[in-house]
Parts: sequence; structure tokens; C-alpha cells
Amino acid sequence: MSDDALSNLLQENRSFPPDAAFAKRANVTAEAYADADADRLGFWAVQAQRLAWDSPWHQILDWSNAPFAKWFVGGRLNVAYNCVDRHVESGHGEQTALVFESESGDSRDITYRELQEMVSQAANALQGLGVEAGDRVAIYLPMIPEAIVAMLACARIGAPHSVVFAGFSAEALRSRIDDAQAKVVITADGQFRRGSAMPLKPAVDEAVAHTPSVDHVLVVRRTGGEVEWTGRDVWWHEVVEAASPEHHPQAFDAEHPLFILYTSGTTGKPKGILHTSGGYLTQAAWTHWAVFDLKPDEDVYWCTADIGWVTGHSYIVYGPLANRVTQVIYEGTPDTPHKGRWWEIVQKHRVTILYTAPTAIRTFMKWGEHIPDDFDLSSLRLLGSVGEPINPEAWMWYRRVIGGETCPIVDTWWQTETGAMMIAPLPGVTACKPGSAMRPLPGIGAEVVDDNGAPVDPGGGGYLVLDEPWPSMLRGIWGDDERYVQTYWSRWPGEYFAGDGAKLDDQGAIWLLGRVDDVMNVSGHRISTTEVESALVSHPAVAEAAVVGATDATTGQGIVAFVILRGTPQKDGAELVAELRDHVAHEIGPIAKPRQILVVTELPKTRSGKIMRRLLRDIAENREVGDVTTLADPTVMGLISDGLSSSAADD
Ligand code: WT7
Repeated sequence: MSDDALSNLLQENRSFPPDAAFAKRANVTAEAYADADADRLGFWAVQAQRLAWDSPWHQILDWSNAPFAKWFVGGRLNVAYNCVDRHVESGHGEQTALVFESESGDSRDITYRELQEMVSQAANALQGLGVEAGDRVAIYLPMIPEAIVAMLACARIGAPHSVVFAGFSAEALRSRIDDAQAKVVITADGQFRRGSAMPLKPAVDEAVAHTPSVDHVLVVRRTGGEVEWTGRDVWWHEVVEAASPEHHPQAFDAEHPLFILYTSGTTGKPKGILHTSGGYLTQAAWTHWAVFDLKPDEDVYWCTADIGWVTGHSYIVYGPLANRVTQVIYEGTPDTPHKGRWWEIVQKHRVTILYTAPTAIRTFMKWGEHIPDDFDLSSLRLLGSVGEPINPEAWMWYRRVIGGETCPIVDTWWQTETGAMMIAPLPGVTACKPGSAMRPLPGIGAEVVDDNGAPVDPGGGGYLVLDEPWPSMLRGIWGDDERYVQTYWSRWPGEYFAGDGAKLDDQGAIWLLGRVDDVMNVSGHRISTTEVESALVSHPAVAEAAVVGATDATTGQGIVAFVILRGTPQKDGAELVAELRDHVAHEIGPIAKPRQILVVTELPKTRSGKIMRRLLRDIAENREVGDVTTLADPTVMGLISDGLSSSAADD
């Protein structure tokens, strides 16, 4: 058994310093680190001045009741005013806020002035439906402008929203409405998906049949499909569009709840992660401005996430709009009507900053670079990644094929719980290594520790912890303080345990290694699935890989890999599998050589793109496959098992 909590196997020595011209114009310089080191709380107080406050705070942080934080104590502000009205007041009412691109290719620009009117109308309508400050509103909408308007309208009247991803089932929606005791649900008749209209309201009808807390369902007409109607239903175009476009935004306490967002735990019912107002908006806005180097008068920003995830909350709605962004919102899927759809959008709207997930990048690698090559991507100047570790090969591909070898790439580590970015490069300062989120942002405390909670030395591996409270931290789990303390604060005293494994390289850069439940134990070596996956993806034949540990009589666990190949394989199955096993042994070491490699056409993923290793472990251990209800595509497991029974890939 090695001394480290996690073996540090894969070495990556490439490094890309910022381009001099980029660095010269960058929003943030290395001084930010020095300022925050000298006075951490003072640093955040300065960043909070980016916002408009109705009354000032008298204390930056109250941590006396740890781990329940209060930031900017006594301060009052209106979050929606900060994201919309103040930009109109400062003379930017005619600036485009949202460029909405539908799947079918029509686009519609919404200015800050129009957004102000839409949000005001929706706020008036919600108040007309009896929603008061503190009441919860559930939002179950596709990626249409009304989704953003609905969130901002809730923020404006102080009613915390709970956005539920519109791909979730009626049962998932029901349990979330129930847990939050939501009073109103905002939804649509349906949504466009891969060229066809799919109903959405039936799931809401089914859910609210069992949720007595709901007084009204507010329905946006999107597809024009037939819908069942009951006495509690009201049309958006009747009540919102008829409401007054004037609404006075009232100020709320900095700690007033802004939203609840449910995230699945490893076991049991989903956790309602609670975020509040002043600290959350401060960190979302500052990180969006600093890490993406946002220039509000020049940039066209596009974050490809859905508002159903925290990325949509912090980096589509709150951070970007607080910074007066012009941004693209896309309703559809990347391959409808063709596989170049995203690159067509970049070309059409001259997108300058693109923020997406490694799973999307690997999909594009698999489809082939001739697809993006057909479009003019020269407007891009910065690329971001979020959601899971980005394999070095995917990072290099992103940089070369999408970024034309010039765009800095910011790999941003954070969580639903952290509310905003925590570990990420500053694009004008940091020399980036492919696959590393590099170091904690100014004002953030993060460390890699061993089993005893002691920091590991450079070159070592262990667990990622956050050792200082931060402005956008979760304030708890909705209705369950005890679970909050147990889940995040009980492993090592005073430290927030993020659940991720990580390693430090010799220069102190942090490499995220995925959830610690994704660590395998092979002959006493703790090996991260991420490292073996990255080694596999670095072979030219492999597009995607998922690795699990399966019980093994001799070694404790054996490494089982599922791979998706790029294009049509040139070699026969057995020969390629042997080559891939040797390749991993060569890249990492013989200890990491997979016991088994299975060639598949799909991998089971959640709707946010995370691989569900639990299901692959079921296959690897020849068990019946468990619960698949949170899979993006529930048919995938069938495809995998069908493919395997006819494949000769197993050796
Ligand atoms: C988990 C949080 C953050 C918004 C989307 C996901 C993984 C996230 C990275 C990254 C390595 C990452 C971690 C984290 N993760 N970003 N840049 N590098 N891993 O939010 O659903 O709350 O998931 O996603 O494992 O704990 P989430």
C-alpha cells in the first residue's frame, strides 16, 4: 500500500502560458492573488462592490455559527435589479442581453430594456397569483427566454425558485415540489427536441396531483400542442403578458434565500442545496468576469448548459447578467438538424467565449474534426470547461480544433454546493496544463489532504477539501441542517469535504480525479478511474472511455474499461484490445493495465453528462443492472448488454 491516499500515476508536462497580447488586456492580473492573500475578507468586500446595494453591510463574514455562514451581514440588495434594471439605468437598455436561438434556426434578440419589462411583468403576475417573499416557486421549463425571465421574476420578489430540469420525470418533479412545498409551478405546454414537439405539461399534471402545496400552474405556450386544463392552470401569455411592465424591486437581506437546487446524493433522496443572495451573486459575478475575462461591450458569450443545472444558474443567469453580458441561449441539441449545429451558432453570432463540458468535447472528437472545420470559428477568444475532469487529449483537441491553437482554456472546478467557481486558471495570468484546473482562485482556500486530513506534499494524491468559507457557499440543505453538517463537514474538523479525489503535481497545480467513490483499489494501490480513462482516450483509436473497478479474487479490484472507438476501427477487436491494454501500461504503469476492455457504442450518462459507473460496475460484475431512472437515455444499458453479448472484445 502506498502512503498516499491516492496514487499519482499519470504525468503531464505540457504547459501553455497566456499570450502576451491577451495578458495585457486581461481583466485580472496576478495582483488579485496578492490582494487576497494579504486580506481575504477585504478582497471579497471589494468584489461585492461590483453589485448595487440598497444598504451596506456592517460585517463581511459571520462564521460564529459554523458551518452556517452569513456573508455581508446587514446588507440589502435586489438580485434581479442587479442583473437587469441597473444596466438600463446606466444607459445600456438597447444592448442585447439574450440572443435566443431555437433548434429550428430562428433567432430572437432581447435587449436589457425588453428583459426588464418581461421580468417586471412576470413579477407582477406571480404576485397576482399570491406569491409572496419567501414562498417557493418550482420552474420546469426548456431552454427558452421565459425560463430566465421566470428565475429573475422570482428573485425580484424574493420567492426562492427551485428549477427542475425539464428532462426529469413526473416523479422526480413531484418529490422536489413536495420537499420545497412549492406554491406555484411554472412550465410549458411542451418543448422542441430533435425536430419534434414533446409534451411537458402532462408530467406536471401527474406531479401536482400529489402535491397539495401547489395553488397554480403557470403555463408558457411553446409548441402549441393540445393540453389538459384544470382550474389551477393559467396561461403565461394571459397573465404575464397582460401585467404591468412596471414593478418596483424591493431590497432583501443579503442572506435572503435565492434558490434551492436539488442534486442527487450517493444514496437516499435528493438534497435541496440552498443558496442565498449577496455572497452568491458576488462570487458568481466576480468569477464570471475574472475567469472568462468578460468584456461587456465586446464579447458574445455562450454557455451551453441547461438552466436545470447549477451552471445555468450561475453562468447563464446570475453571474453573466450581473456583468451586463450579451449571450446566446440555445434551445436544441448539438446534432439537430446536423452535427455542425454548435459551430454554425458560433459562426452566426460571432461567439467569443464558449463554456461547455468535457462530455460534449469528447462527442465532437468522436464525430470528427472535419465537422467544426467547415465553420468559421475565428471569433472565439476563450474556451471554458466544467463538469468533470477534462482528459489531456480532449483539452488538446479543444485547444487545437475549436480554439485554433490560440484561445486560453479555463478548466473550472466547482459544484452545485460551491455555487460558483473555486479552482480555475486566470486566463491572463496562469500557464495552463492540459487537464488541470490549476489552483484555487484568489480568496478561496482549497487543499489536498491525506486520510488524516494533513496536506499532501507536491507529487502526492488525496482528497480535495475547502478550508475557508467562501461567499457563494451553500447555506445548508433545505429542511435538513443535520444532513448538511453530516454530509460535508464531518470528515475532518473545520473542513468542507468536496467528495473529490485530487493530486498535486510538483509545481503545486491541482489535478481533479473525480469522485472518491470512483477510486479503484488494485493490489493495494488506489487508482483513480479518471487517470486510466485519460490514458485510454490518449490512444488515437479511442473517443471515450469509462473505467470501473470490479471485484477480483486476486487483486481486490480489477480494472474494467468500456471504450467507444473513433470512426470505424482499422484493426480487429482482439488485436486492438491488446494494444489498448499495453498502451495504458505504457502511459501509467503495469499496475493500471485493464483486466478487461469492452468495446461499446454508448455509455450510460446522467443528463448532466456524468458517467454512471454504478451501472457499468453491475455489468462488469455480471449483476442485473440497477436503477436507470436518472439516465439521459434509458435505452443505453440495453444497447451495451446487447453489444457485449455479440462482441469479442473481452479477453
Ligand atoms: C462535481 C460537481 C460545477 C457545475 C457542474 C457540475 C465534478 C465539476 C469539474 C472540473 C473535474 C469537475 C466534480 C464535482 N467536476 N467540474 N473542472 N474538473 N471535476 O456540478 O453536478 O454539482 O457536480 O463535478 O466531481 O464534485 P455538480
